Amino acid sequence: MGEKQRKLLVLYASQTGNALDAAERIGREAERRGCPASIVSTDEFDPSSLPHEEAVVFVVSTTGQGDSPDSFKAFWRFLLQRNLGNSWLQRVRFAVFGLGDSGYQKYNFVAKKLDKRLLDLGATTIIEKGLGDDQHPSGYEATLDPWMMSLWSTLYQINPKYFPKGPDVMIPQDKLIDQPKYRILCHKRDTLEPELMHESADIIQRARGMSPGILSKDKSKPDCFLKMTKNEVLTKDGNTKDVRHFEFQFVSSSIKYEVGDVVELLPSQDSSAIDAFIKRCELDPESFITVCPRETENSGSCGDVITHVPIKLKTFVELTMDVTSASPRRYFFEVMSFYATEEHEKERLQYFASPEGRDDLYNYNQKERRSVLEVLEDFPSVQKMPFEWLVQLVPSLKPRAFSISSSPLAHPDQVHLTVSVVTWIIPHKIPRPRKGLCSSWLASLTPDQEINIPVWFHKGSLPAPPPSLPLILVGPGTGCAPFRGFIAERAVQAESSPVAPVMFFFGCRNRDTDFLYRDFWESHAREGGMLSEEKGGGLYTAFSRDQPKKVYVQHKIREMRKKVWDLLCDGAAVYVAGSSTKMPSDVMSAFQEIVMEETGGSKEMASRWLKALEKAGRYNVEAWS
Ligand code: 2AM
Repeated sequence: MGEKQRKLLVLYASQTGNALDAAERIGREAERRGCPASIVSTDEFDPSSLPHEEAVVFVVSTTGQGDSPDSFKAFWRFLLQRNLGNSWLQRVRFAVFGLGDSGYQKYNFVAKKLDKRLLDLGATTIIEKGLGDDQHPSGYEATLDPWMMSLWSTLYQINPKYFPKGPDVMIPQDKLIDQPKYRILCHKRDTLEPELMHESADIIQRARGMSPGILSKDKSKPDCFLKMTKNEVLTKDGNTKDVRHFEFQFVSSSIKYEVGDVVELLPSQDSSAIDAFIKRCELDPESFITVCPRETENSGSCGDVITHVPIKLKTFVELTMDVTSASPRRYFFEVMSFYATEEHEKERLQYFASPEGRDDLYNYNQKERRSVLEVLEDFPSVQKMPFEWLVQLVPSLKPRAFSISSSPLAHPDQVHLTVSVVTWIIPHKIPRPRKGLCSSWLASLTPDQEINIPVWFHKGSLPAPPPSLPLILVGPGTGCAPFRGFIAERAVQAESSPVAPVMFFFGCRNRDTDFLYRDFWESHAREGGMLSEEKGGGLYTAFSRDQPKKVYVQHKIREMRKKVWDLLCDGAAVYVAGSSTKMPSDVMSAFQEIVMEETGGSKEMASRWLKALEKAGRYNVEAWS
C-alpha cells in the first residue's frame, strides 16, 4: 500500500500474528475507501518521526501476564522518555486498538498504557480505544468491525480529505486491492548446482527454521538443534491423558540456559497432509523455487524472508507452511473468493469475508476448527490460486514454546520437556479428530532418530531463583515442569551451599494415573530432600478427581495458610505455572485471602500487598493454554 501519499499510518505490535492481521485489515479497509495507508511494525518504525504523522492507528496485542510483544519494547522505551514533553505529539491524531484476553488479569494492558501515554504526550484521540477480546465468542473481530466503522466516519467528519468519495464508498470486494507480499522465482533444473538438487542435510538444516511472515528477524535462524534421546509416557491411563517426558541432547553446538527458561521448537508436518495440499493446489512438488519479498514502497510490512538458496517446493511447504493449522484468517476467504469460478462459491466466500458474514464465518472456521486444507476442499472451484498468495495466507509453521523441565546443573548438555500430547474431537455431523501438531509429532519420534529439531531458547516469566531464596511453588499438571528443574538444580546447589525451604503444591486428576514425576517429588519430600519438612518445606498434593468434590491446589494453599504466611514473611518468592487460564487467578485469590486473614487487612490492602510482591519479583506466573 502506497507510502508516498499515505494519509493513514497503521503501526502494529504483534507477537503471534493476530495484531498484524488486524492491522492489515484496517489498512485494506482504509484503502478500499480511498484512503492510502501504510502498515508498519513498531520495530521497523523510527519513533522520532511520530510527530510528523497526521493520523495513526495503533494495533497492539497484550500477551501472557500483561506483557507487550517483543517488537514493541524499544518503541515503548522511546515513548517513555521524560524529555519528550506534553506537546510532543500535539499535531498527531490517533486511535488505539488492543488485542487481549479478558481471562487474564492484565486485560489489554499494553493498549491501555499506550493510549494513556499518547494522551500525555499531547496527541488527540480520534475515537475511544477498541479492546478486542479472545474470550468473545467471535474473537477480537467482533469488536474490530464496529470500531473500524466508527473510525472511518469520525475521520471523515474531522476532514473529508481522508475519504474523497465519502467513508462508505468502497472498491467492491471482488477486486483485490493489493498484491501478494512475496515473489516466487522458479528455477530450471539444469541451471542448479547438483548439491542443491540433492537437498543435502545442510541445506535442509539451513532451510528449517526459516519462516516467512510474522516472525521477527532474530527468529530467522534457530539458536541450535536438538536430538531426542528419550520419549517416556508419564501418565498411567493413556485413554484420558498422555503426558510425556522427553529428553534431548544438543547437536554440535550447545546453548547455556537457566532453570525456568523456555524453549521453542519447530515441529515437522505429516507428509500425507503436505501431499494432499500440494495436489489440491495443483503445485509441482519437484520444482525448485526461491521465495523473496516483493519490492514495495513499504517493505516494512513484509517481514523478512526467506530462502537463501533454491529449494524444492515440497520442502518449502513442509518446512514453512502449516497446512493443517486450524482457522485460516479472514483475508484467506477474501482472496479465495477472487479465484472461485463457481458463482455460489464466490458469493459464499465473499459473504464470509464481509462484516455481515463474521459470525457465520466464526462458526464455520473457528468453532469447527476447519484446517486450511479442509477449507480449500470445501470450495473446489477455487483453482489456480497463485502460490504467492498461499505462501502469504497459509499460516506459517511456527515454533511451539515449552517450559524446560531440566536443570543445566543436574542434567548437563541436556534439555528435558514435559509435554501433554493434545488430541480432541470436534463435535460435528461427522466428528473430526484433531491433534496438536507439535506434541503429537514429538510423541511419534523414536529416541536417537537422526532428526535435528531447530530450537530457540529464551527467558520466560520465571526467573531462576538463587539457592538462598525460600520458594512457594504452585504447579498443577504440566505446570510442574519448570519446578522439576528448580528442585533438581537446588539439590546440586545443596552440595556446596545452604539452601532455603521449598513448599511445592502439585495438582492432577488422580494420584494413580497422572501424578507426574511422583517418585521424584516424593523422594525430595523425604528426609534430606529439597521439599522435606525438616528443611522447612513440604509437598502438598491436590487430586481433583479422587473424591466426589474437586480439590485443587488453591484449596491446599489455604489449608497450609500458616506455613505459607510464615514463609512469605521470611522473604519467600511465589512461582505459579500451569495450563489453565483460570488457575492463576484462583491461586492469587487464595494468597489474597491468606494475607487478609493473617494481617486483618482489607481485600484492597491484600491486593496491594501482592502487587508489591509482584513488583519486587517475588510473585511470578507462567501460564499457557
Ligand atoms: P480437573 O481437570 O479435575 O478440573 C491439572 O490439569 C489439574 O488442574 C487437574 O487436576 C485439574 O482439575 C486442575 N484444575 C482445573 N482447573 C483448575 C483451576 N481453576 N485451579 C486449579 N486447578 C485446576
